[in-house]
Amino acid sequence: MNHYFTNSDIPSNLKKIDIYINNKSFVFNTDNGVFSKNNLDFGSRTLLDVLLNMNIYGNVLDIGCGYGVIGIILSSFFDNLSVDMADVNKRAIHLCNMNIKENNVFGCNAFVSDVYDEVNHKYDFIVTNPPIRAGKKVLYDFLFKAKNYLVTGGQLIFVINKDQGAKSVIKDLSLVGNVSILKKNKGFFVINCIFD
Ligand SMILES: C[S@@+](CC[C@H](N)C(=O)[O-])C[C@H]1O[C@@H](n2cnc3c(N)ncnc32)[C@H](O)[C@@H]1O
Repeated sequence: MNHYFTNSDIPSNLKKIDIYINNKSFVFNTDNGVFSKNNLDFGSRTLLDVLLNMNIYGNVLDIGCGYGVIGIILSSFFDNLSVDMADVNKRAIHLCNMNIKENNVFGCNAFVSDVYDEVNHKYDFIVTNPPIRAGKKVLYDFLFKAKNYLVTGGQLIFVINKDQGAKSVIKDLSLVGNVSILKKNKGFFVINCIFD
């Protein structure tokens, strides 16, 4: 079975979608075989709504970036950010590179990586709408291994639905960090973790 997160051979059907957020318009190239190809996912929008009301600075990693919507929009709203975007899906990274150009953002870099395998830096922020359908191991690697890629005091900020185990994730992460819920919206929780 093909999931959006595998490098499937499904035929390409490249298209452009418009995304409007905080009074700014963006155009994103999307395709078959990538997450939420027809519109901005509600969980991702909820995460972005929180992030755009924060002071985001320095080095940011968007892990599981898909076609780049979170990293590119952050880069457009915050000055002087350096944004790395990583995803296991090669087609998603190809689209990310198109979308960096399409939206004229600077300081963005996209690369293929299985979770953190190809990540070699430390970040002020790691942001993610993690892949639930990839299973609990991948989800927990996304969240718990973030600690190794954050500077001291760096923040992991992610979105997860209550039906996708938000409460047990909060409980488990609380054993290794300071966890707070930044927003709840229609079952989606935006969670911040600062590791001990
Ligand atoms: C819920 S989607 C979010 C995509 C995008 N950030 C957005 O908000 O639209 C999760 C992403 O994680 C990626 N992913 C799944 N397993 C992965 C892995 N092992 N390593 C890196 N990325 C993975 C998927 O390809 C997918 O793009």
